[in-house]
Amino acid sequence: MTRLLPYSEVGTGIPLVLIHGFPHDRRLWEPQLNGLRNSARLIVPDLRGFGAATDVPATMGMEEHAADVKTLLEHLRITGAVICGLSMGGYVALAFAARFPGALRGLILCSTKAGADSNEAKSAREATALAVLDKGVARLADDMLPKMLAPTTLAARPELGASIRSMMAEQRVDGVVAALRGMAARPDRTGMLAGIHVSTLIIAGERDTLIPSTESGTMSKSVPRAHLVIVPDAAHLPNAEAPEVFNEAAKGFLGRALK
Ligand code: MLT
Repeated sequence: MTRLLPYSEVGTGIPLVLIHGFPHDRRLWEPQLNGLRNSARLIVPDLRGFGAATDVPATMGMEEHAADVKTLLEHLRITGAVICGLSMGGYVALAFAARFPGALRGLILCSTKAGADSNEAKSAREATALAVLDKGVARLADDMLPKMLAPTTLAARPELGASIRSMMAEQRVDGVVAALRGMAARPDRTGMLAGIHVSTLIIAGERDTLIPSTESGTMSKSVPRAHLVIVPDAAHLPNAEAPEVFNEAAKGFLGRALK
């Protein structure tokens, strides 16, 4: 079942959907709202189970998230959009590309990968889900913050660290657990990369330890029309750590690739 996601919308031009990662909500994209509003029509949803989006099932698969995004586009009478996803949002973007290739005008994959979880990673996700059910989301936010931002970013911009931490800590237990189980169940999409028919921008933080930038390098070799940007001194959230670099890369991509 698909439902209308809560979303923000700003700007004019080609529709660009910005899909947040885990455990985030649409506030992740605040640095892009001003930076990209003159270059695209930004559509920024909360994925089901995050932010203001409720109605979460026990397991929220990437395909269901992609169907929610498609429903939102249909509601807005948009037949084709550039889909940008960060990390879990990238898993959703790839699921969208697989399910709705006709609605895809371009792809931006940030801090993400195409492969599935190993058995070990699946077990770790379930252990995290049980810990969240037992102890809540704040502890997960504390654990994840040092993986989200590079040590230099955390030291130089404590206010950014505090806002990312509180965004993560404010998420719902059921949404976080459903997403962990959904990510563990996601398929390996490596095989579809060679068939992606649209221009694709792949962005990674040089210091990402959650999903190392080597994953992005590997993906960029498989996607036919890919352009790779590695952001120096950024970790998992280059859009927030180095917004100027991220926004310039996105603007260049929109201008170059989508004429
Ligand atoms: C994310 O940032 O969305 C997550 O770290 C992705 C993941 O856990 O695989």
